[in-house]
Amino acid sequence: MLDIIARFIQQRSRLCFTGHKRPILRQRLEQRLAHLDIPDLASYWGYLRISPREELVLLDLLTINETSFFRNPEQFRFLMEQIIPGLEAERGEELLRSWGTVMSASPGAKMKLRILCAGCATGEEPYSAAMAVIEALRYPRAWDIGIQACDLSESCIRTAMAGYYDSERLKRIPSTYVDRYMERCGTGAIARKELKRVIRFSRLNLNDIINGATLTGLGSGSDLFDVIFCRNVMIYFSAESQQQLVNTLSRLLVPGGYLFTGDAEPLHLFDHDFEAVREAGCLVYQKMEAKPHAEAV
Ligand SMILES: C[S@@+](CC[C@H](N)C(=O)[O-])C[C@H]1O[C@@H](n2cnc3c(N)ncnc32)[C@H](O)[C@@H]1O
Repeated sequence: MLDIIARFIQQRSRLCFTGHKRPILRQRLEQRLAHLDIPDLASYWGYLRISPREELVLLDLLTINETSFFRNPEQFRFLMEQIIPGLEAERGEELLRSWGTVMSASPGAKMKLRILCAGCATGEEPYSAAMAVIEALRYPRAWDIGIQACDLSESCIRTAMAGYYDSERLKRIPSTYVDRYMERCGTGAIARKELKRVIRFSRLNLNDIINGATLTGLGSGSDLFDVIFCRNVMIYFSAESQQQLVNTLSRLLVPGGYLFTGDAEPLHLFDHDFEAVREAGCLVYQKMEAKPHAEAV
């Protein structure tokens, strides 16, 4: 019965509980059964199959939501010192060029910056990205900054939307940023409206996106992302799902866009159209520009 439930979970979320992860699944299911006062796994399976609400609760219980502000600081340094200045130069030039064309941009048109945090847990990652971007841009008001932050766990998304963090968590944020972007509240602090405004949180299952569903809102249609953070998520997937996730993330990125992965998630075992940015000193990949078709000789 445990195998059947494990397969169901993998089909629905890509979370893979084989090998040494199997005891975690067993233990969390036992807790859930005790909570619901259900006698055995077979009865629970009967209930799980017909209850979409129970599926959400179970998936939430099975996720590992460890995270912190500015986790892997070298990646945020690279974002601030290399990616943002590069985009400023590129988009600034595009805007200037558009002023010279007949279809000129309307005065006050903003330059777009789109970031995806896929598997954002309780929100520390997207809030860190928002602070880093606003700090690094020379003229943040000239930009329409949109960060799409999503996670499978409903309770994580609720915490992220509230934006309240206790003093222990805040220790990872430079204190000048806390003063600028957070408001002290009790023994912690809450993200200011200006910071929350650039982030759109949603509960989203990456399985649906891998299976071809389109994102709604930011990143939909031709509005692809300039930067994607998908860190410490694929380690919980099977190798096959990891490959499919890599393909999906590439599809969501603009050519030349950047992907940050977790420390244990180098891409060298997969087929992909990324190039590792070796000089960055951290795991960051750049999606290669599409090669122009070779001209017929
Ligand atoms: C260990 S946390 C990583 C958080 C953050 N990215 C970081 O590196 O600090 C992994 C997150 O991935 C989320 N996750 C796992 N499977 C997912 C799926 N199928 N769709 C969306 N999020 C998923 C989990 O809910 C969890 O919050």
